[in-house]
Amino acid sequence: VHFTTEEKAAVASLWAKVNVEVVGSESLARLLIVYPWTQRLFDSFGNLYSESAIMGNPKVKAHGRKVLNSFGNATKHMDDLKGTFTDLSELHCDKLHVDPENFRLLGNMILIVLATHFSKEFTPQIQAAWQKLTNAVANALAHKYH
Ligand code: HEM
Repeated sequence: VHFTTEEKAAVASLWAKVNVEVVGSESLARLLIVYPWTQRLFDSFGNLYSESAIMGNPKVKAHGRKVLNSFGNATKHMDDLKGTFTDLSELHCDKLHVDPENFRLLGNMILIVLATHFSKEFTPQIQAAWQKLTNAVANALAHKYH
């Protein structure tokens, strides 16, 4: 994928305002609530029995922050997403056995959380650039699957 200068600017301008802890934990929590079968991958996280338990679970918070921080690398390396995520792709495939479809689902959760946080500022143009990025990251993370 190729990102234009405008798309890169649209991604960077929003990313600069993102609270990684809040958006990261809300995105992961939403994934676990909206697609409950993803909870199976996080059985070491303890209590995921209800929406409020998931929202308040400190391990969900910490891991959400970690994942979104890692996603932040994508905003800085938009010309080499495959290279940027090679190691994580191998990890999620060989060690964690995460179905790559889940990368797409999480990407959608990130977009929805950004939309709720930024409201009117999340214009169609900004959405288009971010949607392209979440898709490209999902592809990059799936790249090493075999
Ligand atoms: C661990 C990034 C999506 C499941 C990790 C780690 C990172 C990461 C940085 C820590 C790796 C380490 O400890 O060395 C990402 C990124 C994603 C993504 C950037 C997409 C934007 C997902 C999805 C799932 C998932 C969609 C499952 C639904 C896991 C699991 C772990 C993990 C189970 C290990 C958690 C633990 O027990 O500590 N991921 N991830 N990841 N990821 Fe992902």
